[in-house]
Amino acid sequence: MSTALSIVILAAGKGSRMKSPKAKVLHEIGGREMLYYSIKAAREMTDDVIVVVAHQKEEVIAAMERYFEGLTFVVQDTENFPGTGGAMMGVHPKYEDVLVLNGDMPLVERASIEKFRANPADIVMSVIALKNPSGYGRVIIEKDHVIRIVEEKDATYAEKQVQSVNAGVYAFKHHVLQTYLPALTNDNAQGEYYLTDVIALARNDDLTITPLFVHETEFKGVNSKADLAHAEEILMDRLRRFWMDQGVIMQLPQTIYLEEGVKFEGECSIENGVRLCGDTLISHAHIKAHSVIESSIIRDSDIGPLAHIRPNSVIDRTHIGNFVEVKKSTLSGVKAGHLSYLGDATIDEGTNIGAGTITCNYDGIKKYHTIIGKNVFIGSDTQLVAPVTIADNVMIAAGTTVTSGSYESDLLILSRTPLKTIKGFFSRFFGKGK
Ligand code: UD1
Ligand code: MG
Repeated sequence: MSTALSIVILAAGKGSRMKSPKAKVLHEIGGREMLYYSIKAAREMTDDVIVVVAHQKEEVIAAMERYFEGLTFVVQDTENFPGTGGAMMGVHPKYEDVLVLNGDMPLVERASIEKFRANPADIVMSVIALKNPSGYGRVIIEKDHVIRIVEEKDATYAEKQVQSVNAGVYAFKHHVLQTYLPALTNDNAQGEYYLTDVIALARNDDLTITPLFVHETEFKGVNSKADLAHAEEILMDRLRRFWMDQGVIMQLPQTIYLEEGVKFEGECSIENGVRLCGDTLISHAHIKAHSVIESSIIRDSDIGPLAHIRPNSVIDRTHIGNFVEVKKSTLSGVKAGHLSYLGDATIDEGTNIGAGTITCNYDGIKKYHTIIGKNVFIGSDTQLVAPVTIADNVMIAAGTTVTSGSYESDLLILSRTPLKTIKGFFSRFFGKGK
């Protein structure tokens, strides 16, 4: 067991380059805020996780408290001490070993962060070798030692050509931070206190600063919407690979969108173009092409192609065909093969939903429930005006509007305008076809 570690995650910045009213760290990839992922990795390693917040701090804290308990939030004085160095000034870590992570690097994983602790140097910092280093601080390395970091906005033309960049992860000793943080100045292009300047100050005192080379696929900093999209692609690859390794079949996996909260059980099969969102569980099921499933449970069922299962649905031993939308409904042992809307409904074993069946669950003010029993045969183009309860073993004729109420077992329910035929109409109307 290695020594205890404090992890500080910097999440106070505004993220102006995102061009968004929303704080940068709250932008989502894989259905969760970027900051969630770095806290998750940190939480796997220590009980002392400190998150520095300022911009939209209430929103950031509330969002993270939905997932984690016992985090320490520190509010940065961005007015007087802006910048990543300023962010560290109010932090009081529990332990002597302090790992600092930028909050805008959602792809970082525990195994890679662990490497920073195994090194005896005074400071270990992450470096990426990049052909196109733009956007990052450049790391000046001489004889395997880091000399200083130059931010892009402060770099000379020659410094901009340096292809070793700062990924934004640092392992410090607490006493090193205590010595050099008070010595930072904001004499630079952005008028900010840079954490990266601690490096040059420490180097002047002959401290050893070791670069640890890492890959952009894990240490990518997200500063723009294009970076966000790129980070999401990397995350998707990871999630898909993980679930395929667990036995899930994915057809053309690059076309499948899958969120962090999605889980699979057994040998599921996911066809191309499927979108699986929120807290969804797919268990021994087949999801056909271009279906969308949001925060629902699908068990021993087949769904789609082109079906939409909306939040809080539970679908068990059921066949859902194309152009069927289900919302907040529980279907057990049901067949709904085509073109239906089933909202706020509970439908039981052996029931068949004909094409074009609609639960009219909303009267413009409130939503109402539809309860359908076992072995109900619902003909095509049926409207069920909720609240409505249908007992077991009922047949509803095609084209029926079932008005609100309770219907007992063993009925035929039918509402139809009597059919009318008018002889010779077509030829009179169109003047042909006699
Ligand atoms: C920072 C590094 C840069 C590095 C890059 C890696 C500095 C000065 N520069 O630049 O060398 O290549 O990360 O991605 O550190 N933050 C605060 N308080 C602030 C400002 C920022 O907490 O006052 C947080 C942000 O929320 C963000 C992180 O620190 O999560 C990094 O800030 P950002 O503005 O993205 O820094 P970069 O310009 O990317
Ligand atoms: Mg950044």
